[in-house]
Amino acid sequence: MEIKPQLPACISRIVLVGFMGAGKSTVGALLARQLQWRFLDADTVLEDRTGVSIAEIFARHGETEFRALEADVIHSLVREHHLVLAVGGGAVETSAIRDALLQTPETCVVFLEAPLETMISRCEQQPGAALRPILNDRERLRDRFEARLPHYRNAHLVVKTASLTPEETSQQIFKAVTALLKENTLA
Ligand code: S3P
Repeated sequence: MEIKPQLPACISRIVLVGFMGAGKSTVGALLARQLQWRFLDADTVLEDRTGVSIAEIFARHGETEFRALEADVIHSLVREHHLVLAVGGGAVETSAIRDALLQTPETCVVFLEAPLETMISRCEQQPGAALRPILNDRERLRDRFEARLPHYRNAHLVVKTASLTPEETSQQIFKAVTALLKENTLA
């Protein structure tokens, strides 16, 4: 695990970023349970609020409209306390989202890093694979991944997940965050 010096001294929320198939939702739910915080997936909140699936939003209105809706949802959630939030793999493409994640006080951004091939095969094994609009765009998938990597790497914590189970990944983040919280309580 890489811990950046910019890690906030006080943490009220954790945002998980990474490419699709990185395990953000699975790890996020486990981590929230360990911390006894709430877990939300920004894509699920968007679907609940609009009553339309992500795949339908892409198909009917296109990616630009999806990114605008995604930014609204993330902005509305990023100030909530005791929250673990998973955001879609492309959220870091929107500069306003990047700024909100890195500049909102007490927010710890965690990048779940894994090789692209590992993440694609995880996605293909999931029941909803056919509904992932970006997965169809195979030629551009690697380009997108590489373009997003520098943004993902700006996270405060980077966890290499390829050889870890979701439980182990969650445990690593939990340890880093609780050590920090303890340090600040004792300070
Ligand atoms: C996307 C990833 C998806 C979802 C949408 C677009 C992307 O989220 O937001 O299909 O651009 O990588 P997950 O990363 O949770 O799969």
